[in-house]
Amino acid sequence: SASAIDPKQGMTERFSQYGFILAAIGSSVGLGNMWKFPYITGQYGGAAFFLLFTICLIIIGLPVLLAELAIGRAGRGSASTSLVRLSGKKIWGGFGFISIAGAFIILSYYAVVAGWTMHYAFLSFSGQLFSSSDYGGHFGSFIGSYWPIVWQAVVMLLTGWIVARGVSSGIEKYNRILIPGLVVLLILLAVRALTLEGAGEGVSFFLQPDFSKLTAESALVALGHAFFSLSLGMGAIMTYGAYVDRKQSLGKATLAVGSGDLLYALLAGLIIFPTTFVFGLEPAQGPGLVFVALPAAFSAMPLGAWFGGLFFVLLAIAALTSAVSILEVPVAWVREKFGWGRAGAAAFTAFLCFLVGLPSAVSVGGAVPGIEFMGKTFFDWMDFLSSNIILPLGGLIVTLFAGYFWKGAAKEAGLSTWWFNLWLFMMRWVAPVLVGLVFLYYAGVIRF
Ligand code: PFF
Repeated sequence: SASAIDPKQGMTERFSQYGFILAAIGSSVGLGNMWKFPYITGQYGGAAFFLLFTICLIIIGLPVLLAELAIGRAGRGSASTSLVRLSGKKIWGGFGFISIAGAFIILSYYAVVAGWTMHYAFLSFSGQLFSSSDYGGHFGSFIGSYWPIVWQAVVMLLTGWIVARGVSSGIEKYNRILIPGLVVLLILLAVRALTLEGAGEGVSFFLQPDFSKLTAESALVALGHAFFSLSLGMGAIMTYGAYVDRKQSLGKATLAVGSGDLLYALLAGLIIFPTTFVFGLEPAQGPGLVFVALPAAFSAMPLGAWFGGLFFVLLAIAALTSAVSILEVPVAWVREKFGWGRAGAAAFTAFLCFLVGLPSAVSVGGAVPGIEFMGKTFFDWMDFLSSNIILPLGGLIVTLFAGYFWKGAAKEAGLSTWWFNLWLFMMRWVAPVLVGLVFLYYAGVIRF
């Protein structure tokens, strides 16, 4: 069709049913599962944290995921337009825009980290990664150089290209290829990690809860991460929802995406913790965990260069399919707002996002010193603002909208009365309170 946005019907592109499930899993499974999740699990309580994360994901994450899908499919617009269409009130456009801005900011630094994983995949396969044993030093000098910009550009080019190709011949097509590939790699690496001698200690750190390690803080971090991991609060699922077929069961899709994400987090933990423990490394060391600890571990393993290379390819694929869903959020908005074609909107938005990401790329490792405010680098600010402030705010907006301001939810969600009432109860009373607490905690209003 000449214009894929119809003035009355909104978005006219559609996913196939299977393609949508893969694309939504592709969105949720990403750096969150393999880069953030392991180090925060290390920092906030190990197995007990994983249990909390699982609970948050099931009882809060899934209902909100369903809400975003229903709003997207009924609204058939960008994250801002769908809210306006369904409520008939312009003010919701502004609220929706918060998420769109958040998605743009997340992508600006997410692409930088995605770029690191590509660099590491290359280094590992070529054996260069293992030519010295100073992995911390290597990571430091890499992120302190200008090379991350080159990889960030590669990520933004690939992401922009896939989004430019459209919903079925871009987003759906590449997820159909990449997600099964991801599953194969994941299983291969999990078998490798679990058969290492002494893997048991890592497994029990990850799966045998010690509740004395938990704090109130762990619970809020777990909930925030459940949202990040399911791609909620940023309009990503809402935007994908706009392309979902009428016939698709949203309840089943929610279950499929939720279990896919959880299973992936489980397998990621079963790769990372045994590997970390067998080689005597520190699981709570922070963002460097997968880039510093794991190369050390791979170097000491038979065929380590191959397993290491595969691990970073896995990470790069997971990151790319998430980046695609994040870019689609502002792209949908730009197309509506300026009436541009998909390709132009994708190229423009991706380029702008690359520019905004540059200070992140050069501040995190200190290539250009001094890009920091109040003790946080530009990179840390982007991560903090988008993941910890805008994301819970966006989540709050969705729950309040679905719970109080949208009458059509019952029909669109397609749930039986019993499930619908439970869902509505979560949207009205439980999710807003807990997500509100996450927001207040990160905004510094409440402290522990
Ligand atoms: N869910 C992705 C991950 O876990 O890496 C990150 C993400 C994607 C966050 C899409 C937000 C978003 F809108």
